[in-house]
Amino acid sequence: MAAAARSLAGGGLVAFPTETVYGLGADASNPQAIARLYRAKGRPAFNPLIATVGDLAAAQRIARFDATALALAEAFWPGPLTLVLPKTTDCAVADLATAGLDTVAIRLPSHPVARDILRAFGRPVVAPSANLSGHVSPTTAAHVEHDLSGRIDLIVDGGPVAVGVESTIVGCFEAPMLLRPGGLPRGEIERVLGRALAQPPDDADCESGQPLAPGMLASHYAPRTRVRLNAVRVEPGEALLAFGPVALPGVEAATAVMNLSARGDLQDAAANLFGYLRTLDTKGAHTIAVMPVPGDGLGEAINDRLRRAAMARE
Ligand code: TXA
Ligand code: MG
Repeated sequence: MAAAARSLAGGGLVAFPTETVYGLGADASNPQAIARLYRAKGRPAFNPLIATVGDLAAAQRIARFDATALALAEAFWPGPLTLVLPKTTDCAVADLATAGLDTVAIRLPSHPVARDILRAFGRPVVAPSANLSGHVSPTTAAHVEHDLSGRIDLIVDGGPVAVGVESTIVGCFEAPMLLRPGGLPRGEIERVLGRALAQPPDDADCESGQPLAPGMLASHYAPRTRVRLNAVRVEPGEALLAFGPVALPGVEAATAVMNLSARGDLQDAAANLFGYLRTLDTKGAHTIAVMPVPGDGLGEAINDRLRRAAMARE
């Protein structure tokens, strides 16, 4: 933790586990470090970063919380929820990290390693997922090493993560809006709000104009192999990403088979999703066929990531 904090203070790039996926950290107030971070990921600088903090007081120094934002923070922090809020006038997060927006995305992770690093460093850390831009997010230190070895300064290995999909992002606008489904199911948030989350307008989901969640580009989270959704049989030469106990016709001829959760558990499926996509991507299959996954609870985020993986090659 001390080495990680020293590296961050010196402008270094440090990968560390959060409960959702591994993040690539840089000092949120250091534009040089942030410029290096965008380069290391190959990420376009118009796509803003999440600022990670150690406690609510630190979050309130960089953003203004209304009653709704406070209620969500109190209910779900630390945990897999990111809030997009108006910046304070003396917000310490560099403009480069927020892509010039007057809002900032903030997260308070619950992973003990992330918390220890944030505590040791003592200031906000910007931390996008620690993968090459456009690739699936890393859920182990080995995934980080595969994507970013030689491009960053340190990887803190905390073992495989628990949640496996990125945080849920809620924009605290006039009506709280679900900008990205993620590790905290929509239903839990709506229960605290006492109302449904607003949906972003359709054109927020593309590269045109001023997207509300600029990172929600269609081609996010993509393996290199083509992905085919809602498979009801396996075609020759395909790898299969299965879900549940039922075997698909044609499965004997599959190049490789991995089951997200043989007992049909969505939490297990989320935790396995990105690692299995990475593994199936190396099997020489022409297509990864994916069985249907229910859309309730964590299934909303799982289906969102699968759709993006499929869209990228269409
Ligand atoms: O679980 C997570 O959130 C992980 C861990 C490492 O914390 N991080 C993560 O970061 O997924 P990243 O950079 O891969 O995704 C952040 C998303 C992007 O889609 C970005 O466009 C959006 O947050 N975002 C950041 N600032 C924003 C803002 N001010 N308004 C709207 N969207 C914003
Ligand atoms: Mg990412």
